[in-house]
This record gives sequence, structure tokens and C-alpha cells, in this order.
Amino acid sequence: PASARRDRDGELEIGGVGVAALRARFGTPLYVLDEAEVRAHASRIKAAFAQAAAAHGTKARVYYAGKAFLSTEVARWVTEEGLRVDVCSRGELEVALAAGVKPSRIGFHGNNKSVSELERAVQVGVGSIILDSAIEIERLGAIAERRGTERNGTGSHGYVQRVLLRVNSGVHAETHDFLATAHEDQKFGTSLEAAPALVERIREIPSLQLRGLHCHIGSQIFGSAGFAESASRLVELHAELREGGELPMLNLGGGFGIAYTSADDPTPIEELASSIVDAVARECEVRGIPIPTLAFEPGRAVIGQAGVTLYEVGTTKPVSLGERGERLYVSVDGGMSDNARPALYGSQYSARIASREGTGEPALVRVVGSHCESGDIVVDHEYLPSDVTPGDLLAVPATGAYCHTLSSNYNHTPRHPVVAVRDGVARVIVRGETLDDLLSRDAGIAAPRKTER
Ligand code: LLP
Repeated sequence: PASARRDRDGELEIGGVGVAALRARFGTPLYVLDEAEVRAHASRIKAAFAQAAAAHGTKARVYYAGKAFLSTEVARWVTEEGLRVDVCSRGELEVALAAGVKPSRIGFHGNNKSVSELERAVQVGVGSIILDSAIEIERLGAIAERRGTERNGTGSHGYVQRVLLRVNSGVHAETHDFLATAHEDQKFGTSLEAAPALVERIREIPSLQLRGLHCHIGSQIFGSAGFAESASRLVELHAELREGGELPMLNLGGGFGIAYTSADDPTPIEELASSIVDAVARECEVRGIPIPTLAFEPGRAVIGQAGVTLYEVGTTKPVSLGERGERLYVSVDGGMSDNARPALYGSQYSARIASREGTGEPALVRVVGSHCESGDIVVDHEYLPSDVTPGDLLAVPATGAYCHTLSSNYNHTPRHPVVAVRDGVARVIVRGETLDDLLSRDAGIAAPRKTER
């Protein structure tokens, strides 16, 4: 985070709190979130899209994609910065509701939302449900109709659920295959060709109100070309479908990339926002239609860079690379259970000694975790001072998004706490699991002993 700096002794502090104090109070590994930085990213992104939209006389809504990381505290920060919240499961929905997010400001995603998830969303009055399939259209239509009937007891339609339809623009974003979603052969949404029939069906159902189309082309995307191309294609379909009824919204998803290491060079959000909105405006002009209200759903770009994971070094071990010299394996007390991204996507991170400056010459290191497989890598390729030693704290930046949320209990490892720092104050926003939490799930263990983390 921007607030990370070294004090006079070379110790790193984040949000005004020294890492030694964080270790003493909360232990390691520890997820640290810089509140001011989350808020700054949220408001910068919101302003970027608002300005780009205003330049063309329209409006932009920004939903925070909670899948990147969601807790009630974070939901409050982003909503205070003017964002709405996008959820994609019952659990995320409940967190947003518990945080006091107005249901009308929640969007609900998913390719296989269950009946009970849809019922809950309709019951609380979620502002927009993003429909993903023909089956879901019927399912939600019936649920919304039932709620209307239950409400006024007359059998007439007392409740209308607002929906979007998720469409694949066919644009293949340049990112890891698992993160790209808008090409045809994958599970999300409907093709451009199939969309008109589905739209017609939605419009026949009195308990549903179609507000517009949705498209998300993938994640961790650096350039604007894919977004702009996808936006133009969506507007073309939007223009065609507008002839059959009003269509005030267009949601273009998230996916804006961030820098994980100095090798990453994402386009600044202001530039992305204006090229996407310009592409929409251009296509609307060609089609002779008004520009719809736009919506976006960034997750990573809001929270990724505001997070740092602190680990403690346990062992170091030089391994010979033959003629290519030597690599120092630095083992830390976490690993793939708290950050699955290197193992899942080959993601690159960086690391620094956090508890002190370090004095040795830069040595080639691989930071690895404590799990029982060789793919358990935290930072694949890094140079650290060669005097890195057991007891040192390592900081791995840019772990705010998709780290805690993708964490697991692999090897019976309790999940680590998440601590927010701001203005010199640190507080737990998600408590860590204890070994008792884990042991208590084992039906063969009668009364777990009290164990420390
Ligand atoms: N909207 C929809 C419909 C999505 O599916 C996603 C991400 C987003 C918004 C937010 O995307 P973002 O702005 O955060 O890139 N686990 C992977 C990322 C999976 C993203 C899934 N969908 C990772 O760790 O990189």
C-alpha cells in the first residue's frame, strides 16, 4: 500500500502501524488491509467512471465485486465511498446485508444460483439479479411471482424483480485462461445469438423487469482494447433489443488489472474508463440511440493493492542450480492455504524483509510455504538480502484480492485473521480460525481441548 514505509530502524509500517507490533498482537501469518487505501481506490474508480460517463451526458454505477474480499467492515468502507455491492452467493449476500448495505444497491450473480438463494434475494429485495440461463429465467420468474401473490394475497403481481441478462460478447481477454470468461466455450451467460429469444421470454414474464444486458470479459486485464471491443458489441445488441421495450442499463463487469510486481503495467483506471465509455458512446451514436446508464463491477482493482500478508521466516536453504548458481529457498509459516493464486494461476508476487532493512547482497530466492507439496510457492522469483534469516518477517504485497477468499484448510491449517490498519490503529475485522474450530468439525472428537492459534 501507499502507506507502507520504513521507520528509522528500517522496520516496515503499514497504515502507521509497525509490523513488529502487528506480529506481537496478532501472530503470523497475518492479512493486513490498509483501510485508507481501499477507500482511496474505491473513490478513485468511482470518480473515473462517473467523469467518463458525465462527459457523454450519462451516469455510471460502480459495484464492488465482493468475491475479491468481503467482510461487513469492507462493505461499509466501499458503500461509504459511494459504491454498490455485487455478490455471487448466499454467504456474500448475507455479509452485505449484515453490513447494512441497502438491498436495492446489491447485484446478485452466478451461473447456478439455487432456488433458496434466489428466494432469499427476492425476499430481501435485491436491486438487480443477473440472469444467466433460460432455466434461471423461469425459476426466478416463478419465485418473484410467488412473492407478489403472497404479499397482496390477490394473485396479481405485487412484486417485480429487476434483472439483467448476462451475455458473452465473444471477446477473448488476454489473461489466464481460467480468468477469461467472455469467449463462447465456457459456463457463464448466453451467446449474442441466443440473447434475443431469452430477452423476449423475460419480457413475457410479468414478475420480471428487464433492465439491460451484462457482460464480464475476464479478470486481471491490463489493456483497454478488449473492454472497448466488447462494449461496442454489447451496444449493438442493446440497440436491437431496445426496439422491443425499454433498456435503461448496460453493465460491463469488472476485470481491471493491477500491478502485482514491477513487471506489471496496467492501464490507469481513468484511461480505461474513458476508452470504455467512449466506445459505448461511439456505438450508441452510430445506432442513433441514447447512451444507457452504465455499470461496472471491479473487485481486485478496489482491494488488491491495499492488502499485505505478513509471514515469519522459519528456515532458509540454498539449492544449487548448477552453472546458473544458487537459489535460496525461504520457507514461511503460511503458503498455498492462504494464497492459492501462485499454485492456481502461476501468479507472480514480490516480497520484502519487513522487520528490518536487511544488509546482505541481493540473493535469488523462492519464498515457499509449509504445505506438503512442491507447488506450494508464495513468491516464485525474487531477490532478497542474502542475510534473510529465521525470525525475519516477510511482507508480500498486493494480497488484498482473492487470497483470503480463496484460502483453504489444507493440511488442517486454520485460516488467518484479517486486520485493518488506519492512522496508527490496528483492529481485527475477520478473526482467525483456531485449531479448535477445525477439530470441532471432526465427528470423532468429542470435546476438543482449548488450543491456541
Ligand atoms: N463481475 C463478475 C461477473 C465477475 O465474475 C468478476 C470476477 C468480477 C466482476 C470482478 O472481477 P475483478 O475486477 O476482481 O477482476 N480468482 C481469480 C479471479 C476470478 C474472478 C472471477 N470473477 C484470481 O485470483 O485472479
